[in-house]
Amino acid sequence: MYESSSVGELASKLRQELDRYSPGEKLPSSRALIERFRVSPVTVSRALAQLAAEGLVTTRPGAGAYRAEPPAAARVTGDTSWQEVALSADGAADLVPRTVDASGVLATLAAPPPGVVEFNGGYLHPSLQPEQAMAAALARAGRRPGAWGRPPIEGLPELREWFARDIGGAVTAAEVLVTAGGQSALTTALRALAPPGAPVLVESPTYPGLLAIARSAGLRPVPVPVDAHGVRPALLADAFRATGARVLVSQPLFQNPTGAVLAPERRPEVLRIARAAGAFVIEDDVVRRLVHEDAGPLPSPLAADDPDGVVVHVGSLTKATSASFRVCALTARGPVLERLRAIQVVDTFFVPRPLQEAALELVGSPAWPRHLRSVAAELKNRRDTMTAALRLHLPELALPHVPSGGYHLWLRLPDGTDETALASAALRAGVAVTPGRPYFSAEPPAPHIRLSFAAVAGPAEITEGVRRLRAAWAETRGENRSTSQGPDANLPA
Ligand SMILES: Cc1ncc(COP(=O)(O)O)c(C=O)c1O
Repeated sequence: MYESSSVGELASKLRQELDRYSPGEKLPSSRALIERFRVSPVTVSRALAQLAAEGLVTTRPGAGAYRAEPPAAARVTGDTSWQEVALSADGAADLVPRTVDASGVLATLAAPPPGVVEFNGGYLHPSLQPEQAMAAALARAGRRPGAWGRPPIEGLPELREWFARDIGGAVTAAEVLVTAGGQSALTTALRALAPPGAPVLVESPTYPGLLAIARSAGLRPVPVPVDAHGVRPALLADAFRATGARVLVSQPLFQNPTGAVLAPERRPEVLRIARAAGAFVIEDDVVRRLVHEDAGPLPSPLAADDPDGVVVHVGSLTKATSASFRVCALTARGPVLERLRAIQVVDTFFVPRPLQEAALELVGSPAWPRHLRSVAAELKNRRDTMTAALRLHLPELALPHVPSGGYHLWLRLPDGTDETALASAALRAGVAVTPGRPYFSAEPPAPHIRLSFAAVAGPAEITEGVRRLRAAWAETRGENRSTSQGPDANLPA
């Protein structure tokens, strides 16, 4: 055996035995170790030196080796309280203090406890994901020549081409940047278009992840109300006038959370109002592929009909695949494209090439249109199941709009309902729901909850979830507790 390996072996044996000695206690002499382990004196002294270098042993020349004292408690625990001062002083000089708060996003990302029905999920249940097609695409992508090489910064040309075709109109591949998911595209777009402290117009209610991005960038979200036909043009014009904002973030299709689709007559109006204000419209179009089977033809993205470069379009593959399939496109026309590209490169360089290759393989495979058709059928079925169960068991909760796309329902609660108390009672009853408050950037006009039907295993779980919500509702209203029933342990998590 080589000397170096016997040193390592002896050190490892001694390391395992160290617990037998108290801190500060003397270890067996070198002579005893030589005899016991049948190694040379050099091996013993090198093994002890190695343990001394690891801080496990101290050696005193002429006296022997001792088990080292553990590091002082103060050094282990440390005192990080200075950070409280440092982190709160952070925004002292900012016009609009930055607030970094992920709770609105985590509500839809976090997995609920086992046995709890997940009415708060933001992505498809694994049984609805194209798992086999994604696995096959990833395997084929891995075998493509140069799969692990650096991609072009803006994304693979064929993938940019595909995203451009998908938007339609006069959009070209040169106007597309591939980014890592809608969240990062929205972050890039807001950082590119609004300096810290600036107002940014957002729909009210809107996706809490967008509000989180704005606040963490030191922007001031200004709400513009949405009705059943999308953002309200007269109020939009007022908001631009009152704030001087240069950006609106809008979801014209299957708005999160209301499910509204921007009415045909409002589409040109929104663009005209933004253009007159010298402002950009960030079009968040990430749920386009979660259309329900009975939806009829979809309106094209605003970006398809925008020669002047008002619209910065965000389209993503995650919602129709999996939260981990983080491939998205940010599309814009004119000088703003260079700004977006620079921010994206500074922040993240580029999207990993294997994932881009896999995206190309996936959307080009015959499994892709099949998958979209089956998701459309399944989402319609689930939406109808949830709507029927709510109408039957919880007629007190108003459902102002039954959407034809997206993955959730938005329910208005009676005035005075404590939506947080309802969400807590629901969790106790075994169903996780999302309270409405985080969807509003200012005071909400009424209490709401959002119920997702995509993240659960199937219609049976939807019915069971609504039954549990009924129990929670009864509890918060102080109704007969005997109707209340706890989680069903047999239900899938
Ligand atoms: C409206 C909206 N935009 C963007 C996102 C972020 O999606 P992605 O997974 O593509 O980052 C979400 C996620 O829930 C969303 O609801």
